[in-house]
Amino acid sequence: MNSDIPPLRPDSLPRHIAIIMDGNGRWAKKRSLNRIRGHREGAESVRNIVRACREMGIEVLTLYAFSTENWQRPRPEILALMGLLKSFLRSELGEMMENGIRLNAIGQIERFPDDVLTVLREVMDQTRKNPGMILNLALSYGGRDEIVTAARRIAAEVQAGRLQSEEITEGVFSKYLYTEGMPEPDLLIRTSGEMRISNFLLWQIAYTEICVTDTLWPDFRRDELIQILHDYEKRERRFGVTGDQIKKTPRRGLTE
Ligand code: FPP
Repeated sequence: MNSDIPPLRPDSLPRHIAIIMDGNGRWAKKRSLNRIRGHREGAESVRNIVRACREMGIEVLTLYAFSTENWQRPRPEILALMGLLKSFLRSELGEMMENGIRLNAIGQIERFPDDVLTVLREVMDQTRKNPGMILNLALSYGGRDEIVTAARRIAAEVQAGRLQSEEITEGVFSKYLYTEGMPEPDLLIRTSGEMRISNFLLWQIAYTEICVTDTLWPDFRRDELIQILHDYEKRERRFGVTGDQIKKTPRRGLTE
């Protein structure tokens, strides 16, 4: 770790960090390498950032690892991503157990091939009771799809007479999302400079602070995360009220 960087204030750390990991392909292209090499180096950044967040005491880290749109990529690239995911899960299980990390997948994981799904379910199962950081991997994830799925489940509850339509509040709605019971992201980081949300956590990021860095994901490591957290420390989160009001009664996400 870079010793020039001052320590972070624990009381102003985000509880939940979400990351759109982008730029693996460009990282590889810049070096005249195959895109898959970029993903491989990106997996190293995943290891580095998971470790850093765990050590800093972040409660939830959500990583956008595979979107519903990513199924349209060339088959060899999809297979390589599946392979990387599987080897990441296998190689990190020991460290997750040692450090109390709970792995949770968000998305249509049933679309994944059986071999990947088996490893994923095993790791989720083994880490289920771990009391430390939650590592959410967004896999075959789409924000709109998550909202539509929640709406369908709520409609079924209403139809069955277990819920009245007047009882559907933002708080109730959020219980039908993959992130049920978790704090909403305080900070969303996107690497590689693109100013887009790309269908990520559409409901959950209503009040999230956003940081876009030009760094390509394979180059994004702990020191830059710490710089971003220093910048986050200085932001005043208002949640739609005035700065004076927020000083009197600081609040976090609306649906907590
Ligand atoms: C975006 O880069 C990245 C992805 C679509 C996949 C993210 C995957 C990893 C970081 C590696 C494996 C993951 C785990 C959890 C071990 P891009 O390919 O869209 O980059 P580009 O925009 O430069 O082409």
